[in-house]
Formats: sequence, C-alpha cells, structure tokens
Amino acid sequence: MNIILLGPPGAGKGTQAQRLVKDRNMVQLSTGDMLRAARTSGTEMGKRVADVMDRGELVTDEIVIGLIRERLTSGDEVEGYIFDGFPRTLAQADALGDLLAELGQTLDRVILMEVDDEALVARITARSTCANCGAVYNDITKPIPADGVCTSCGAKAEFTRRADDNEESLKTRLLAYYKQTSPLVGYYHAKDDLARVDGLQSMDEVAASIAKALS
Ligand code: AP5
Ligand code: MG
Repeated sequence: MNIILLGPPGAGKGTQAQRLVKDRNMVQLSTGDMLRAARTSGTEMGKRVADVMDRGELVTDEIVIGLIRERLTSGDEVEGYIFDGFPRTLAQADALGDLLAELGQTLDRVILMEVDDEALVARITARSTCANCGAVYNDITKPIPADGVCTSCGAKAEFTRRADDNEESLKTRLLAYYKQTSPLVGYYHAKDDLARVDGLQSMDEVAASIAKALS
C-alpha cells in the first residue's frame, strides 16, 4: 500500500508517518528529512538548497523528484511507502504518478491532515527532534523525557530545533503551502483518492482516523 500524507507545515505528517512505520512496517519517504540529511552530510545539493529551505520556500521539482526516483528504484522490497511532504506541486504529483506506473505500483490513498493556522504556529514553535533518530517531540503535547533519553531510539540524545521553525520562515512555508501545494487537494479529490482527517485531534485519535481511512 502506498499513501501520501498531505497537509500544511506542522499538520503532523512526520508524527503519523513514524507511527505507521512502527505499526505497519511501511517505509517513510520524507523529502524534508532527505534534504536535511543532504545538508548535514555537506553534499553539493545540500549546500544549494540550504538557504531556500531556511527561508521556507520550496526547492526545485527537479531535485525532489530525483530524490524520490532514487529511493523508489532502489529495488528494496517493502510493505509500502508513506510519502511525507511529497508531492508538493502539481508537477511533483504527475511525476509520482508516472514513477509508480513505471514500477507497476499504485497510489492507494491520500490523507489530507486538516489543521488551522493558529494551531500550526503553536505546534511548530514548540517542536524539537531527536538528533539521533529523528523522533518528533513537542514542548506541550509530547515533552522530551526528563532524563534526556529518547523514547523512540533509547539513546541519550541531543534534541534540536529546525532552522526553519521560526515565525518569519513559517509565514513563507504557509504561503507556499496555500499557493503551490493546496491545489493537490482538488487534484486527488478528482481522482477519488482523497480522505480528510481532522488533524486537530490528539495524536492517538489522528492515528485512529488514518487507520479507518486506510481500511
Ligand atoms: P518538511 O520537512 O516537509 O516540512 P513541512 O512540510 O513544513 O512540515 P513539518 O515537518 O514542519 O510538519 P509535519 O506535518 O511533519 O508535523 P510534525 O509531525 O513534525 O519540509 C521542509 C522544507 O524542505 C520545505 O519548506 C522545503 O524548503 C523543502 N521541501 C521538502 N519537501 C519538498 C518538496 N516535496 N518540494 C519542494 N521543497 C520541499 O508535527 C509538528 C509538531 O506538532 C511536533 O512538535 C509534534 O509533536 C506536534 N504534533 C503532531 N501531531 C499533533 C497532534 N495531533 N496534536 C498536538 N501536537 C501534535
Ligand atoms: Mg515533517
């Protein structure tokens, strides 16, 4: 089963993708995580996208489609992919459809995670991530354990904040979502692939709603 988690910055795409990986043995393909990894390892591409990401703008279709193509054609046998933060433009959506068709695969469901802007700002400004495994925490709803040991990987880890998690970049990210990504809602609705989930519920309730949409 291949699914897309679609939604604005802070909607909970990464949080729910990590749960699906654990519960269903699926593979998370987050273009945001891949781009951040390229930056950390200092590749040419990583250097090229750094400023664009920090400002909150989208990187080029060519780069992200290339990243996804590489992962999908790696030949690994998996239970299915969770596309997290991809596609984000109509060109990316078309490219994903073509890629899956080339591989004889289908897109089974697109989950739209609906959260209002006020809640997004509150969530993002309270977010931190385990530097060891990427598990997502939140100062209010999922605080870092007092002993500093990540509940996901068990390591005594550093917990970092993202460079684009500031008010200025967030404004740009929201604008990019409404301008470039939200047309995908109509696109997938027209293809009968779309399921809407109330992303304002608790993390467990969102997970249950997603499970229902996938059954
Ligand atoms: P990316 O990393 O994809 O960021 P994003 O889309 O802005 O989304 P976020 O990761 O910020 O939010 P999320 O929905 O994953 O929420 P999370 O689960 O963390 O992209 C970053 C940048 O890379 C882009 O701006 C762009 O430059 C570039 N890029 C990436 N993909 C691209 C593409 N395809 N094309 C072009 N450019 C691309 O949750 C947020 C917080 O809320 C956490 O603290 C969490 O604990 C908390 N939380 C989650 N669920 C709940 C809940 N139900 N209740 C309360 N709190 C919750
Ligand atoms: Mg994310």
